[in-house]
Amino acid sequence: MRRPKARSRARSPSPAKRAAGAPVVTLIGGDGVGPEVIDAALAVIGATGVEIEWDRQTAGAYAVKRFGTPVPDALIKSLKRTRVALKGPLETRSGEGYRSINVYLRKTFDLYANLRPTLSFAGVQTPFRNIDLIVVRENTEDLYSGIEHVVARGVVESIKVITARASRRIARFAFEYARRHKRKSLTAIHKANIMKLSDGLFIRCARGVAKEYPEIKYREQIVDAACMRLVTDPSSFDVLLLENLYGDIVSDLCAGLVGGLGLVPGANYGDKGAIFEAVHGTAPDLAGKGTANPIAAILSGAMMLDYLGYAGAAAAIRTATGKVLRSGRVLTGDIGGKATTAAMTAAVIAALGSNR
Ligand code: NAI
Repeated sequence: MRRPKARSRARSPSPAKRAAGAPVVTLIGGDGVGPEVIDAALAVIGATGVEIEWDRQTAGAYAVKRFGTPVPDALIKSLKRTRVALKGPLETRSGEGYRSINVYLRKTFDLYANLRPTLSFAGVQTPFRNIDLIVVRENTEDLYSGIEHVVARGVVESIKVITARASRRIARFAFEYARRHKRKSLTAIHKANIMKLSDGLFIRCARGVAKEYPEIKYREQIVDAACMRLVTDPSSFDVLLLENLYGDIVSDLCAGLVGGLGLVPGANYGDKGAIFEAVHGTAPDLAGKGTANPIAAILSGAMMLDYLGYAGAAAAIRTATGKVLRSGRVLTGDIGGKATTAAMTAAVIAALGSNR
């Protein structure tokens, strides 16, 4: 297949695309099932005919073993140069060990907007149909600021940081997305009844930005009630705007509505770059077995192609994955089948071929 022409402009111009020839993209295989699903995404992207120069880097637990640090200098240098990455999940131990490298990368490169489009797929059995939710999560502050200290023996404090600047910026990102994609409503999800100052500031900023987008119906909902409503009446939501922690939790809940974490892609956008990664983590229970669902990573690759300006190839990947899931013949265990990661990847590539 010939290299497709870049037909639509990416959301923000990719620095990597400015160079002549193939764009250069940092590739991070990650930990656990990361290398398996990232290899699947690479194979599918390769099959579209889009040429990308991959700059392979390591991070996380694998990098600790090899280089003694979870964030090697070479990785940071690569990201500064390419400003675009396709990334597998990275392990972060609970209650011990180094701080999250994901959070570190998002903050270091100011990738403030985490976009997680969550769609139903025909062929994947769940109690819910026609889910079409866009989760927009603030990515740089909140309780993820990592400011924690021991006040006294048996007493710790974790500081929740919310700023007007970051709140307005993420609200504007969400409304701009809603406008560009002709979405009808946006719900800001919060707990301002309890956290009157921090979440209060977040929703006041969202309200202010909402006034500039009168065509999009703006609503607010308290996070606990929103979770209940998401599982009883998900079609009443459209674009969801959340702070960092609520966004993390609610996006996994939304993934559950469409069949699980193996299906939902994601992107972390900043003004000067982006990192594309599935919503899921390292899935330690599946690592090394060759049975992880590659669809979330493949669709994250499609989001990356959109960003780089290869909208045609991105759309072809979405059509091909939709076809494979709809046919129901080659499905991994998480969505009711017995297929391996490799078999599902091969099925997506075959479906790409039959689209031509
Ligand atoms: P997880 O997302 O790795 O797994 C949760 C459940 O979903 C498991 O049952 C797993 O088997 C399943 N699952 C996940 N991805 C799948 C796939 N592609 N195909 C089929 N099933 C899949 O979340 P968990 O277990 O809470 O975290 C494991 C590690 O991953 C932790 O160290 C965590 O910090 C890290 N993590 C990293 C992320 C990132 O790098 N962006 C995001 C989330 C977690």
